[in-house]
Amino acid sequence: MMGNGGHRLNGKPLLSKRRFLGSNPSAPVSSIVVIVLLLKSFMLLVLALLFSGLLVLVACAVAGFIFFSMIVGQLKGAPFVPSKPKRIAAMIELADIKKGDRVCDLGSGNGAVLFAAARRGAVGIGVEFNPFLVWFSRLRAQWMGLGDKVSFVRQNLHTYPLSDADVVFLYLWPSTITALREKLMRELKPGARVISNAFAIPEWKPTAERDGVFLYQKSV
Ligand SMILES: C[S@@+](CC[C@H](N)C(=O)[O-])C[C@H]1O[C@@H](n2cnc3c(N)ncnc32)[C@H](O)[C@@H]1O
Repeated sequence: MMGNGGHRLNGKPLLSKRRFLGSNPSAPVSSIVVIVLLLKSFMLLVLALLFSGLLVLVACAVAGFIFFSMIVGQLKGAPFVPSKPKRIAAMIELADIKKGDRVCDLGSGNGAVLFAAARRGAVGIGVEFNPFLVWFSRLRAQWMGLGDKVSFVRQNLHTYPLSDADVVFLYLWPSTITALREKLMRELKPGARVISNAFAIPEWKPTAERDGVFLYQKSV
């Protein structure tokens, strides 16, 4: 039935004009809903921006790491390729590390060789140009509780002084090893050992060789 006020049932209006038009009583409710929706969208937008910022940061860090490790490393002396655990074991054994030995890893990468030497009682320094690897190695050293035994410097290995070292570890391109030969001869003290992973030192006669690792000892 239709009357002046709209539909009616048993004389009562089914829907009052005011409610039908959505005026006053529901107005505050719908405003709150709109505000909540706006706030939610704003928060989602902020979260999306934060997340994409984080993704960009991570992507930059990964790209920087690959650039330094592969491209710059290749040009400087060797790309970052960590020694395998079996090789590290052979390097440590051939080096015959004694408590208090001063060891130096020229191009220390992720620090694994030095950590193995430190566990045998050595005091070590890693020389590495790649800042990502230097920070990572320092963090690892703290994490492993070896922070007082090993340290890492960001430096070109061709300029690091070696006169204190009892043992020097190398895992570098043959051309870089060749360029280092004269420095090793000049700076190492008599009796010092040089351990080279994978590549022999050109024209030098190794004292021992095991599993692709070469040991050289400077004559006393
Ligand atoms: C093949 S990796 C060996 C890493 C580590 N010594 C090992 O055995 O696991 C060579 C390392 O030498 C570093 N390196 C290459 N040229 C360098 C230079 N001129 N000065 C300092 N570090 C260098 C590279 O960044 C890389 O981490």
